[in-house]
Amino acid sequence: MAFNQNQNMSEFVQVNKMVFFAAADRNKDLILDQLRPILENAEHVLEVGSGSGQHIYRFSTDYPNVVFQPSEYDAALRSSIDAYANELNKVGHHILPAVQLDATNDEHWQQVIQPAGYDLVMTTNVLHISPWAVSRSIVRGAGLVLKSGGSFVAYGPFKRNGTFSTESNREFDQTLRGRDPSWGVRDLEEVEAVATNEAGMILDRVVDMPSNNYMVFFKKQ
Ligand SMILES: C[S@@+](CC[C@H](N)C(=O)[O-])C[C@H]1O[C@@H](n2cnc3c(N)ncnc32)[C@H](O)[C@@H]1O
Repeated sequence: MAFNQNQNMSEFVQVNKMVFFAAADRNKDLILDQLRPILENAEHVLEVGSGSGQHIYRFSTDYPNVVFQPSEYDAALRSSIDAYANELNKVGHHILPAVQLDATNDEHWQQVIQPAGYDLVMTTNVLHISPWAVSRSIVRGAGLVLKSGGSFVAYGPFKRNGTFSTESNREFDQTLRGRDPSWGVRDLEEVEAVATNEAGMILDRVVDMPSNNYMVFFKKQ
C-alpha cells in the first residue's frame, strides 16, 4: 500500500480502519493554529492527499459547521479517512466521504468542484512526496476549484531560491530521491511560478514552522 512507502514503518499504527501517522499527530495543532483565521469564515474546504484523515478530523473538531471534502489517492487510506469522519459526523459534523483524487487526472478535479467554490484548498506533506507533475497539478487544480479570494495552503519543507534552509533538509531531499527519483523538496519559487502563471493565484505569505517546515499561503485572484 502507498502509505507503507510514504511513512517509516515505526511511524504509523492502524486500529481497525483508522490509520495513525505520528507526523500528522505532531503537526496537526500547529497547522490548525495557522488556519484558524481562514476556517473562522470558511464554508467549504478541500484537502488534497488527506492521508490517514487525522488533519481533517482535528480541524472539524474545532470547526463543526465547516464542510470538509477529504481526498486521497490510496484506497486503504480513504477507508481510514471515512472511519475518522464517521466519529464526528455521528455528532453532527460535516466531513464528506473521501474521494479519489489523483491530482494529475483532470476528471477527478471536475468531480470535486464545489459550485460556490472552496474557501480553502490545503495540502500537507504532499508536494515533496510525489512527482513534480503532481505538485504542479495540485497547484493548478487549486486554482480551478477555489473561489475568488480563497486560499491555497501548502505545508512542508521547501527550498528558497534553490537553496536548502538547513543541512538536514538537504539530507532529507537526498533520502526522498533515493526512495523515488521523482520525489524531492520543491523550490518555493517554482511552486509560486505555477501558482502565478497557471493558476491565477498570488503568494500571500510564508510562515516558518517547526522542524524546518513552512506554511505557504496563496490567494486566488
Ligand atoms: C506523506 S503522505 C501525506 C499524507 C497527509 N497529508 C499527512 O500529512 O499525513 C503523501 C500523500 O501524497 C499523496 N499523493 C501521492 N501521489 C498523489 C497524486 N498523484 N495525487 C494526489 N495525491 C497524491 C498520497 O495520497 C499521500 O496521501
